Amino acid sequence: MKRPLEMAHEFLAEVVTKEDIVVDATMGNGHDTLFLAKLAKQVYAFDIQKQALDKTQDRLNEAGLENVQLILQGHETLDQFVTEAKAGIFNLGYLPSADKSVITRPQTTIEALEKLCHLLVKGGRIAIMIYYGHEGGDIEKDAVLDFVSQLNQQEYTVVIYRILNQVNNPPFVVMIEKLERYRHG
Ligand SMILES: C[S@@+](CC[C@H](N)C(=O)[O-])C[C@H]1O[C@@H](n2cnc3c(N)ncnc32)[C@H](O)[C@@H]1O
Repeated sequence: MKRPLEMAHEFLAEVVTKEDIVVDATMGNGHDTLFLAKLAKQVYAFDIQKQALDKTQDRLNEAGLENVQLILQGHETLDQFVTEAKAGIFNLGYLPSADKSVITRPQTTIEALEKLCHLLVKGGRIAIMIYYGHEGGDIEKDAVLDFVSQLNQQEYTVVIYRILNQVNNPPFVVMIEKLERYRHG
């Protein structure tokens, strides 16, 4: 069976092509940025920690990829850089190798999600990896679940992929697809 992160990546890879603009909302060590850079025309990657940008830049240099704009700003400002996107990924929580008090926060996560949903093209997709074992993680998890559950079903489909019989709050993935056609009724 696929692990949640594999599921998230495959979900995005099914729709992203070399014509597409995509967003990595939480760059971290750059694993998702690199993954998306191989698939897309252009990646916009965000993080609020300089060390994330440095790590990611090294990773991209090593792979010889130049189609990424690394942005040292919160993902809640993504609409200043991107006007449309085919896909996006969020990896919530903290950067394992860094200061564990720097975490994604419900208010800015929801603001970014709202903006990304709005500028997502039809047929576009968003994957949200939810880590919630840390302090404050539960509140963010609930805020995200609440937000996605209220997305209009005529415009979006939202699915959860989650391992149920594993201890220690394993991460799970929420997947959003913006429908090609507005679904009436
Ligand atoms: C779980 S890590 C991301 C892991 C990353 N995707 C990878 O492949 O290594 C979460 C990241 O979100 C960043 N972050 C926290 N608040 C943010 C915000 N408002 N906007 C963008 N990134 C943020 C943290 O600095 C941290 O690097």
